[in-house]
Amino acid sequence: MPWTERQQALLQGMGLRIWSPPPAALRPAAPQAAPAIVPLAVQAPVEAPTPAVTQGGEPAPAHPVVSARTPPAAPAAAAVPPPSAPSPQAAGVAAMDWPALREAVAGCQACALCESRRNTVFGVGHPSAEWMIVGEAPGEQEDKQGEPFVGAAGQLLDAMLQAVGLTRSEADAAHQVFIANTLKCRPPRNRNPQPEELAQCAPFLHRQIALVRPKVLLAMGRFAIQQLLGRDEPIGRLRGQVHDYHGTPVIVTYHPAYLLRQPTEKAKAWEDLCLAVSVYRQRQG
Ligand code: URA
Repeated sequence: MPWTERQQALLQGMGLRIWSPPPAALRPAAPQAAPAIVPLAVQAPVEAPTPAVTQGGEPAPAHPVVSARTPPAAPAAAAVPPPSAPSPQAAGVAAMDWPALREAVAGCQACALCESRRNTVFGVGHPSAEWMIVGEAPGEQEDKQGEPFVGAAGQLLDAMLQAVGLTRSEADAAHQVFIANTLKCRPPRNRNPQPEELAQCAPFLHRQIALVRPKVLLAMGRFAIQQLLGRDEPIGRLRGQVHDYHGTPVIVTYHPAYLLRQPTEKAKAWEDLCLAVSVYRQRQG
């Protein structure tokens, strides 16, 4: 039985049925080995998996990086170009420390979202978190409270994180994540972020990542994926691979709000999280 009782309870809390692997003979060949997961909170020291050897004799990374932010590896037709006009704030923001960055976000008037917001939503978590989660934009509750992912989608996110031993609450850098959004202000009526808004807000997210220096990034939903990777293909085509953001591995997955609408996709999100844990373990130590 691969799951502890605690894990089973957590997975069931997320609405995931416990799955037992079929006999090996019935299993289809997997494109990528599914990592076996032990929650980070209870994990034993991880032994590095024996690397495969490439034709050239080089040890192959256990999770080869398949796409990099620069230059974008996507076919031209599918790639989202990086914002064409660099934000006027970009230069200054790239040199800010945490207090200056917080202040800049709180006072930002670079786009029209500042007119309708109640609060900016900077992000929450450990300033040197080893895990960073990137979502889309604040919704109504987040706008009210000034914290990301505090509504229904946030509860699902918290349950998913808890299932692998992670939390947004006070903990050490290995267990307390940092959660940020592509946009720091709520789009009216929760509409999709607009390209201009994403472009104006991008420097804030890039600076947050540079300050946190996570070991793994989890991009949730298409806007986070666009912002980090410049990729616009369907998530189903991008998930299950290790992408690259300036040297930091990125795992892409579905947005928790989408999972609430499509609960049958939760199993895939769980697989993505397991892949992220596996990649993280390789980077530990
Ligand atoms: N969805 C997001 O992407 N971010 C939030 O903060 C809340 C909901």
